[in-house]
Amino acid sequence: MRKHIIQLVAAARPNFMKIAPLYHVLKTENWCELALVHTGQHYDTNMSDTFFADLNLPDPDYNLGVGSGTHAEQTAGVMIAHERICLEHRPDIVVVVGDVNSTLACSLVAAKLHIPIAHLEAGLRSGDRKMPEEINRIVTDSICDILWTPSPDADENLKGEGIPEARIIRVGNIMIDAFEQLRRQVEKQNTPKRFGLKPAGYGVATIHRPSNVDKPAMLELMVKKLGAVAKLTPIIFAVHPRTRASLIRNGLQDRLSELPGLQLCEPLSYVEFMSLVTSAQFVITDSGGIQEETTYLSIPCLTVRDTTERPITITQGTNRLTQWESLVDDVKEVKAGKWPKGVRPEYWDGETAHRVAKSLKEFFDNRDYS
Ligand code: UD1
Repeated sequence: MRKHIIQLVAAARPNFMKIAPLYHVLKTENWCELALVHTGQHYDTNMSDTFFADLNLPDPDYNLGVGSGTHAEQTAGVMIAHERICLEHRPDIVVVVGDVNSTLACSLVAAKLHIPIAHLEAGLRSGDRKMPEEINRIVTDSICDILWTPSPDADENLKGEGIPEARIIRVGNIMIDAFEQLRRQVEKQNTPKRFGLKPAGYGVATIHRPSNVDKPAMLELMVKKLGAVAKLTPIIFAVHPRTRASLIRNGLQDRLSELPGLQLCEPLSYVEFMSLVTSAQFVITDSGGIQEETTYLSIPCLTVRDTTERPITITQGTNRLTQWESLVDDVKEVKAGKWPKGVRPEYWDGETAHRVAKSLKEFFDNRDYS
């Protein structure tokens, strides 16, 4: 019997840990062959290579090397390069994950070539179409054949958009699989020690969304408020390249790095970063995935955004949306032990990749290849 060719699309930092658990599970199946595609949306060593190493991913079969640019440039660049490899090595299905520009670009290419597409982490919605990721999510989900969701709210969002129920399959949260697969390494790593931090005696900050870092006034407010929080508790801030560039452009880099109690570091590898998070007292972020990881680990998460596409982390978990102005009060609440412990959502259990593999097998078994 011919093996089904499954193309897995990795692209940017948040997506590597969504692809890796699936790659490792599918690699052990005898009915499929894998083609790993890296679009090159993220390309720095510490935004890409260290993740491949930590997550035990091989070199990609195809590296599209697209890099940075405006949204149109990046999306179009991925589409042109991805179309070429799909025409040459026609996969039986394209699997995309998350909500970055490459997710949208590769879905569009596959849809127009009539190649089935599956989206892992489907159905998340912030309701805010000013976020590029929201546009990517809506368009991707509207053209996918299989929508694997992490939570009931995602199922409801898709049904509300008229997606046939038969396409929606709740599989849980793949990020938790990545964490569980690397838990031992994370526990051995001891990143806090490297930065002179005591377990549960510091906060971790990661901020990179355009809404927080692109406008000078917001960036300045961030610097001021992080400074105020760092007076209460030591803060370690892993600085994303977008944030770093904006800090330099706006002449705020030195002011931030000189704040008492605050340390800056480059983006960390997955294992190094999760080692920091697991021992943190709280996390300040605008990331998507970190809202989920902190809920799973029962660590208070202060998300500096107006909306979240992951509301279950608020209703069931340890996450709260906040503003820079309220951050000091939030941290005081955490320090006073008043934060909810939360519960883990259903299927956030490290078994999501197995559910996805089962769903893929069923998809192929039910297709008529005559
Ligand atoms: C992208 C995703 C976002 C995700 C984030 C995680 C979209 C629309 N956004 O945003 O959802 O949360 O990744 O990082 O897809 N850069 C480097 N080296 C790199 C990558 C980026 O220096 O390896 C710099 C470039 O100057 C680039 C900027 O960072 O212009 C932004 O990168 P880009 O991939 O466009 O968007 P992110 O802000 O990283």
